[in-house]
Amino acid sequence: MAQRESWATRTGFILAAVGSAVGLGNIWRFPYQVGEFGGAAFLVVYLLLIAFVGFPVMLVEFTIGRYTERNPVGALKQIGQGISSKIGWVFVVAGFVILSYYSVVSGWILQYIVIGLQGNYAVGGAGAQFGATTGGLPSVLTHAIFMAAVIGIVAFGIQDGIELSVKLMVPAIIALLVGLAVYAGTLSGAGEAYAYYLSPDLGAIASNWTDILPAAAAQAFFTLSLGMGVMITYASYLGEDRNLAKDGVIIVGLDTLIAFTAGLVAFPVLFTANLTETTDGPGFIFVSLSEAFSSIPFGGILGAVFFATVAIAALSSAISIMEVVVSYLIDEHGIGRVPAVMALGIAIFLVGVPVAYDQSSGLVWLTVYDGLANQILLILGGLLLALYVGWFATDLGLEELNKGFRNLGSWGMVWIWTLRVPVIVLLLVVLLYNATKVYGSLTGIFG
Ligand code: PHE
Repeated sequence: MAQRESWATRTGFILAAVGSAVGLGNIWRFPYQVGEFGGAAFLVVYLLLIAFVGFPVMLVEFTIGRYTERNPVGALKQIGQGISSKIGWVFVVAGFVILSYYSVVSGWILQYIVIGLQGNYAVGGAGAQFGATTGGLPSVLTHAIFMAAVIGIVAFGIQDGIELSVKLMVPAIIALLVGLAVYAGTLSGAGEAYAYYLSPDLGAIASNWTDILPAAAAQAFFTLSLGMGVMITYASYLGEDRNLAKDGVIIVGLDTLIAFTAGLVAFPVLFTANLTETTDGPGFIFVSLSEAFSSIPFGGILGAVFFATVAIAALSSAISIMEVVVSYLIDEHGIGRVPAVMALGIAIFLVGVPVAYDQSSGLVWLTVYDGLANQILLILGGLLLALYVGWFATDLGLEELNKGFRNLGSWGMVWIWTLRVPVIVLLLVVLLYNATKVYGSLTGIFG
């Protein structure tokens, strides 16, 4: 087998992981979920889950990746026995499905950059504009353009492709978003927006927690790129024994700050435009936010900058999903990087075509793909990993986490026990709840 690649620098690894984490999850999904699940109440639950579930699971992925130095399928094959040696397959399937629709939504983002530059965000009729964007050939075309960009970067490999590109993309995302948030703070609706966004209604959490908890858990996994082997793959390119927990804190912290900042952009713009009704769900930033941009000063340009920021973030995430499946073909089947990237890129493009072409008003295919991958497969992947390291490969996990730590002490067992009981119980409950919900919506659509 050819010499395995590694990151050139520690910063390269951290930026790649941040690039993976920061994406549509932070800037497309996060604001609409905040809107859907009661503003600040959602924010609080989400932050708790990030810290007490997301972070421990991220460390699981890091330790497995660095220990085995292999792709997720190969990694679990190497250390697992029986059924646990097959866990990696969940990741490959999830990666395929997620990237296929992720690229479609990213293609819509590309269209909204152009619409903004032309000064054409609809004033009224934003829903119809979104409908025209999201189906048929234009949507297939922008999906193809986005996939081509992903293929182009990943074909260059770890150092010259992924690492180099994230060193440009991640600082750009942060700078653009902070700039937008500062501008949004000067808008007339900012005060009202902050009040909505930042003062949690604890009563709302108490009465809605059965909805908020599973949604926030799925969101925490999605935004941190967990349950899909990305962090296993990225950690497998770490040559040296650095402190994984410290890197994890930086990565989780930046991802959370960036999602939070996205809210500081979206809500002031919305409140300033005074929309009486906002669109829930996937259409939120396309319909409500683009319409809001149409009514604020310099809205077209600002909207274009906003959507460009989202597009960069999406690209820096999409390459990480691609790397999971590519590394599997390279490691396990000895296929060269370029042919592997090409073949997978085309296959994933094709899997996404139904989502892209779909002209149904309910975005049926998007709902199906997203339900399956995000609500079920990611949670399942995370649950299996937590079970495995928490109960079966405890020594391996502790030993690996201890490297680069001068004195892990009892924190190691705190981590293991967090995985063993609270994380597993919570993920199990969320998985059952989501499976029932997705099953219900599928029979609703196809039944
Ligand atoms: N974390 C990415 C985002 O927030 C999405 C993602 C999920 C990437 C799973 C990789 C794996 O948009």
